[in-house]
Amino acid sequence: MADKASFIEELNSRYNPAGPHIILGKGMFEGEVVPEVNVSIPLKTINRHGLIAGATGTGKTKTLQVFAEQLSHAGVPSLVLDIKGDFSGIAESGTPNGVITERYAKTKLPYEPQAFPVELMTISGEKGVKLRATVTEFGPVLLSKILELNDTQQSIMSIVFKYADDKGLPLIDLDDLKKLLQYVTDNPAGKADLAANYGSIAPASLGAILRSIVALEQQGASQFFGEPSFDVQDLLQTRDGKGVVNILRVSNIQNQPQLFSTFMLSLFAEIYLTFPEEGDTGKPKLVLFIDEAHLIFNEASKTLLSQIETMVKLIRSKGVGIYFITQIPGDVPENVLSQLGLKIQHALRGFTAKDRKEITKAVENYPVTEFYDAATLIQNLGIGEAFVTALDEKGIPTPLVQTYMISPESRMDVLTPTEIDTLTAASALVKKYETPINKESAYEILTQRMDSAVQNATPQQKVKPVKETPGVLQEVLNSRAGRTFTNTLMREGAKAILGMFGLGKRR
Ligand SMILES: Nc1ncnc2c1ncn2[C@@H]1O[C@H](COP(=O)(O)OP(=O)(O)O)[C@@H](O)[C@H]1O
Ligand SMILES: [Mg+2]
Repeated sequence: MADKASFIEELNSRYNPAGPHIILGKGMFEGEVVPEVNVSIPLKTINRHGLIAGATGTGKTKTLQVFAEQLSHAGVPSLVLDIKGDFSGIAESGTPNGVITERYAKTKLPYEPQAFPVELMTISGEKGVKLRATVTEFGPVLLSKILELNDTQQSIMSIVFKYADDKGLPLIDLDDLKKLLQYVTDNPAGKADLAANYGSIAPASLGAILRSIVALEQQGASQFFGEPSFDVQDLLQTRDGKGVVNILRVSNIQNQPQLFSTFMLSLFAEIYLTFPEEGDTGKPKLVLFIDEAHLIFNEASKTLLSQIETMVKLIRSKGVGIYFITQIPGDVPENVLSQLGLKIQHALRGFTAKDRKEITKAVENYPVTEFYDAATLIQNLGIGEAFVTALDEKGIPTPLVQTYMISPESRMDVLTPTEIDTLTAASALVKKYETPINKESAYEILTQRMDSAVQNATPQQKVKPVKETPGVLQEVLNSRAGRTFTNTLMREGAKAILGMFGLGKRR
């Protein structure tokens, strides 16, 4: 086995980026912390994605906290999907205690307890910034996938969206969509209009579509679809030079898998469509952390799974890094795993044959090391210790290093309900998205039209004509909704080109 001097020399030659970087911890050799060896990761390769794995209680979430803090220091904002609800403490300063003081003493780094700027976010009505998207932004293809529609039903959905586009009927929330579906199948005028220009729809297909929409609503999706729709630029805030840590609490994923998939897909699509190509900026624009990712891989829709792989590829050039935090590397699909640049492996336990297979596989995927017996040590890593391999500034994998992780500078425990109240009450972003807007959209327009049709017998129209008035139409077109719905086809075109949503269509 190699000696300590050569360990220090070799590791320092590979973990000392010349450009901006973050530090995760210190190297360890023969069980001792080696303060001379910084385990530093270049900001430049953070968009090459990564994995934080390890058995429960080995320190994954604390590593994520350190990582997010370090990024924040570097002015890089992040979005943390907090599935267990144990991450909010980053908004408050840590307090020195024996464990932390000892940890910092070993690393010979100063402990500087501090809070980080945080926005709490929600898709299910908890306290925080309410994340929403409009039905139009979602588009017929993606929505059909989420609703798990068959090909026939999917083409109906495309026709209905096209009809809405052509007729100036904004589809904002699920009520708009349901109303429009009803209008073109039940209402004689709507039926005739659709049949004349686009073809007719079988009532059985309509029934099936409506049923899937209702199922999605039962998972709380009515709150998610609507306006104001969330602008992904708002994930990019910095405060006093620190990147904002956006925390989305998704405590109920087992009961809302479809809603969660819906959110993730809309987030990916919005990032893809609105973030410019970044090239090599030397610094990520946003980093996405998915804690307890195995739950997502277990619960998520097939659509989300197949899109994660594609998005992991595409999102990199947008300057966005994705990090999966999970128990064993095997939780992450093979084709995603192979694209991850940074691996932080906390202890794995070899209780069962399957566990031992996982260990062998994990070790096989690491760069060969002369400094450790990786297969044995991986089972004996202490809490807050991990094997790390990263990409250096040239994109070449760095040697495996047993790392003594630093401790978070912020609080290791969660926020109290009072602290959450204070935090959200002070947030301008919470205010911006708090109140749903229900402006005139397909639901109102069609309801009025159907009502006025009923009163057709009356010579003077009591209800003011809605759609045909140029003024109203102009108003609708000028609204954000108007702008987004006229963009539907463009967006769908872009998605088709990307092949993101398995359209198989070519332009
Ligand atoms: N870097 C660290 N510094 C100090 N304590 C840590 C560190 N990592 C883990 N711990 C301790 O281990 C406990 C479990 O860590 P956690 O990150 O929640 O594990 P996991 O997410 O893997 O289940 C923490 O509550 C903390 O007491
Ligand atoms: Mg955890």
